[in-house]
Amino acid sequence: CATVWTPLIHHISMHFTLKRALKCEFISAFWKQVADEFFWKKPATGPMLQYNFDVTKGNIFVKCMEGAKTNMCYNVLDRHVREGNLGEKVAYYWEGNSPEHHTTITYGQMLSHVCRCANVLKRMGVRKGDRVSIYLPMIPELVYTMLACARIGAVHSVVFAGFSSDSLCERIMDAQSSVLVTADGVYRGDKLINLKQISDEALEKTTSRIYIKRIKASEPVYRPCLFTQTRNLALDWWDEAMSDSSEDCEPEWLDAEDPLFILYTSGSTGKPKGVVHTVAGYLLYTFLTFKCVFDYHHDDVYWCTADIGWITGHSYITYGPLANGATSVLFEGIPVHPHVGRFWEVIEKYKVTKFYTAPTAIRLLMKYGPEPLYDLSTLRILGTVGEPINPEAWQWYYETVGQRRCPVVDTFWQTETGGHVLTPLPAATPLKPGSATFPFFGVEPTILNEHGEEVEGEAEGYLVFRKPWPGIMRTVYENHERFENTYFKKFPGFYVTGDGARRDKDGYFWITGRIDDMLNVSGHLMSTAEVEAALTLHSAVSEAAVVSRPHQVKGECLYCFVTLKDSREFDKKMVAELKMLVREKIGPIATPDFIQNAPALPKTRSGKIMRRILRQIARNEKDLGDLSTLADPKVVEVLFSQRSEAA
Ligand code: PRX
Repeated sequence: CATVWTPLIHHISMHFTLKRALKCEFISAFWKQVADEFFWKKPATGPMLQYNFDVTKGNIFVKCMEGAKTNMCYNVLDRHVREGNLGEKVAYYWEGNSPEHHTTITYGQMLSHVCRCANVLKRMGVRKGDRVSIYLPMIPELVYTMLACARIGAVHSVVFAGFSSDSLCERIMDAQSSVLVTADGVYRGDKLINLKQISDEALEKTTSRIYIKRIKASEPVYRPCLFTQTRNLALDWWDEAMSDSSEDCEPEWLDAEDPLFILYTSGSTGKPKGVVHTVAGYLLYTFLTFKCVFDYHHDDVYWCTADIGWITGHSYITYGPLANGATSVLFEGIPVHPHVGRFWEVIEKYKVTKFYTAPTAIRLLMKYGPEPLYDLSTLRILGTVGEPINPEAWQWYYETVGQRRCPVVDTFWQTETGGHVLTPLPAATPLKPGSATFPFFGVEPTILNEHGEEVEGEAEGYLVFRKPWPGIMRTVYENHERFENTYFKKFPGFYVTGDGARRDKDGYFWITGRIDDMLNVSGHLMSTAEVEAALTLHSAVSEAAVVSRPHQVKGECLYCFVTLKDSREFDKKMVAELKMLVREKIGPIATPDFIQNAPALPKTRSGKIMRRILRQIARNEKDLGDLSTLADPKVVEVLFSQRSEAA
């Protein structure tokens, strides 16, 4: 009973505290109270939040706690070890790709590793404000390196270790990183991913001065190594560099609005955007969302299955849990290796109480049998993120995994939002399967129609936010104009998410999916433009158009239409080549499921591709509605007749 009522009362009282605060325009007082949990070298001189969300009134900006000085790493490690007596508490249970590989890391050990790594980076010449790219698998060194950057004021840019050398290269160049931290390789399931080779290829194409620091990884195939590489290819090995590195490293005291990290997310033009998050606001927001949404208790064992290469890992594996002094599982593997019960085995092994995963993983595991044959009785709360969850998957998660005992928190958010923005509070919000329910404290969503007018009551349209919260992104790295154009130009006065949403009669929000040229495959966002650009690199392709098609496990998959140059034949070999090309250029997550020959694409008279029609062809929906704007309606018949070959 206590586990239900204590958080419930806590949430309700927080909710009312906030409502009152909002009414009296004292939202500052609310965030001030949250900030009081942390160490500030210098207090804020400005208000908790300042902002302009209206492009017609000047530049867009958000500032949190202006004038304050602090350090993220100090707050998530030293504060616990020195002030909270949590030195012996487990920060992470690391579980390798193979169940035989595992280790435990306490807060005290973390602090020591992080300080030594910070000193290594300093020795390599990394200073406050410098960018460090990190291309590592889910090993503890990934977290150490992130926090080492945070400690010395360097800005980390983690690149998901499933991206191709081209994608890595593009991100290193854009961030102008002076160091790349990577590993020999990693096993994902049975597959070896040769990170070193990919890094070498990426670095060949970059012009920036790069150091590589390579890390011992978990499997016997890896040699313990770290090296730095400059233009003259000098090398350093992780173990050697760390062994004579001091455990003392004074944190760099940063301004509240100094950048903490850059994380790249797909942009609709095809070029990824470097989303910038800053120190103080991100700390407050990831701390509080983690605490409330997962109803954090000090004896919890929390597990988020995401990869730290995505925002979910940044906010809810690294920063949010550590800010709370939580114990988490850090998992290197995949759900089905070495067997399909791996997730459940890990939950049983570590007695996981809070479990956070993606609908795509739930749908995959649902296929493998009615119920997991493991003891899941420790579970208290289940979370999902990344894409809309279909009711069937929600029910299975709730009934079979949670045994009808655990609230399912469907958390809607984005790389840009930094943390949950629409989410239930467990045991406090009555749930509706498939709905992310209501805004988090201090978040004000609304729905706009095509003309930018707010629609009241039951409505569907563009999901936007009226004002910021501390954890929202501040800019696109080195491109503030792109930041303003992407998120604030369409509807002045609002942050535009790019998602559609419906509000039902009870005020619940239901995300209907992206309404821009973005696709969500297995919870990973990508732009149609980047896949099209990869396809047109093939010498035989003259034009390509990519749309999404529903997929039973991935949610959405890629369906590509390609127009070949004269005399080039569309056959199985061509399909295989094109798939391989996309894998190489972007990474395996972007591998198309379908590639269809398109002798011509449906275009308007002004030459614009009508994606709506392509989506319907991909889905085999025959009722196409109004085709009068098409330059040549016969194209559609041809595309339908070629469909079967694609599938
Ligand atoms: O379309 C929404 C979908 O994922 C997008 C954000 O992707 P990304 O920046 O990669 O961050 C993913 C992890 C936070 C959103 O614009 N999305 C995320 N969570 C949900 C969701 N769609 C529906 N329901 C969700 N809970």
